[in-house]
Amino acid sequence: MQIIQDISSTKSLCRSLKQEGTLGFVPTMGYLHEGHLSLVKQSVKENPNTIVSIFVNPSQFGQDEDLDTYPRDLERDVALLKECGVEYVFNPNAQTIYPSGFDTWVVPEKLASVLCGKSRPGHFRGVATVVLKLLNITNPDHMYMGIKDYQQLRILKQMASDLHLDCDIVACPIVREADGLAMSSRNSYLNPDERKRALSLYHGLLKARELYEQGERDCGQIIETIKSIIQESGGRIDYIECVDPLTLQSISEAKDDTRMMLAVYFGKTRLIDNMALKA
Ligand code: PAF
Repeated sequence: MQIIQDISSTKSLCRSLKQEGTLGFVPTMGYLHEGHLSLVKQSVKENPNTIVSIFVNPSQFGQDEDLDTYPRDLERDVALLKECGVEYVFNPNAQTIYPSGFDTWVVPEKLASVLCGKSRPGHFRGVATVVLKLLNITNPDHMYMGIKDYQQLRILKQMASDLHLDCDIVACPIVREADGLAMSSRNSYLNPDERKRALSLYHGLLKARELYEQGERDCGQIIETIKSIIQESGGRIDYIECVDPLTLQSISEAKDDTRMMLAVYFGKTRLIDNMALKA
């Protein structure tokens, strides 16, 4: 396993790996769980070489957010990646990615003005900027991303198209715990009671699917149903919206591909989840 910290060595490594065939890339902030590992396994299966980045990107955290407490465990991450057959990890530090004088940002517009972009101003500017940097450093053929962060995925796909990037972005299914909670590094913040209550996200989304299946087409009704399930569990709702899967704009009449998007706090932990109305 090679853990590389500097940019020029990573660039030359990736250049030489690409001589052997396609290169897969999985960007992460570490503290890996089965969700990340499913992306890694897919990349390992589909490409002769895979590189994974582990970098807790400061620019995507707001001032009052959890940058300092974000869970980190490089040794464990590396061991998990080894088990998946990954041989290369890019693990830069913040100074390497944002040296003094750094002054150029990628600013997604409309797609970042809704949902999480509203509650976390600047978040997607940080995400888009770091991902473009990581893509420029690794120059992969395929980048693997989870549908769990649906808005992030849409924004990065749009960025790849708008900026003529040569990398294909592969969307991978949400991985859930046995009881249905979507996997997230932030689940580790939940105490046992919050963990139990957080299941209402999944239950709300499933109930909404059931309603749609029974013929409900009014997004207002669908949202109310999810809302009451989550509020009953004591979750503090940031947003629940039914959106167009491409534009992420709120819609009123539900269709098969309408995406239910939600962000909810349990205690101090903010969780997100999403699902299409039709399975
Ligand atoms: O989804 C994440 O873990 C991060 O937003 C990403 C894509 C690694 C950028 O820092």
